[in-house]
Amino acid sequence: MNINDYSKSREAYLRACKVIPSGIYGHQGPAEGCYTPVEAWPLFSDRAQGSYFWDVDGNRMIDYMCGYGPNILGYHDPDVDEAARKQREKEDCVTIPSTKMIDFAELLVDTVASADWAFFAKNGNDVTTLAVLTARAYTRRKKIVFFKGYYHGISPWTQKVDYSGILEEDVMHNLYVDWNDYDALEELFDRHKGEIAAVIGQPYMHGNFKDNELPADGFWQKVRKLCTDNGTVLIVDDVRAGWRIDL
Ligand SMILES: Cc1ncc(COP(=O)(O)O)c(C=O)c1O
Repeated sequence: MNINDYSKSREAYLRACKVIPSGIYGHQGPAEGCYTPVEAWPLFSDRAQGSYFWDVDGNRMIDYMCGYGPNILGYHDPDVDEAARKQREKEDCVTIPSTKMIDFAELLVDTVASADWAFFAKNGNDVTTLAVLTARAYTRRKKIVFFKGYYHGISPWTQKVDYSGILEEDVMHNLYVDWNDYDALEELFDRHKGEIAAVIGQPYMHGNFKDNELPADGFWQKVRKLCTDNGTVLIVDDVRAGWRIDL
């Protein structure tokens, strides 16, 4: 194994640049500087096992990021792999739904005390978008409150107006408050009486490039009551936090 040799990743990156915008997009792209001091070049993975992955040059890394969230049991967990293999042998992606969907929905509804229904989508951005659509359809209101530092995906409604391709119209109904600032939230509700469709928040603040912050004692209980009293939908975005701190 050649420690600190990244030449194959570099080759891969040069290949990628010819066929993929910026070689690799999102915050792993060189412009974001995530790979400093590895000369700001992105690495490419070759294989993974348990809590480790190896890049194409054979450097072994501990994956503290767990594949950006989903890989909480580690790579190639034997129980998960075996269950996936068995299901694949029966069927994978079929035109009609499988009863597995019902099994899974039952498990989710039984596990999450606040959930009466489960709905499936291909990624986090799609579910937060569906949640906001649902809140607007239900309330017939337009405004959505966000906690500053949030991340809810990449759809236009989640973005800031100075991002490329985002229109003022995409974000004109977005309102922002500081995390844990209940008084500011209450003030926003007073100022926009009867206009707020939803408050969307991560269960605890885990924005990018900043320290995590837990909710203050009683914060969510007060937010819950404020939303209920005002007919506003409370959206808890558990895409990343779900089942990490506690089942
Ligand atoms: C809190 C939160 N919401 C939504 C998303 C978007 O999920 P996805 O990248 O699967 O679209 C993420 C992704 O990291 C997230 O952390």
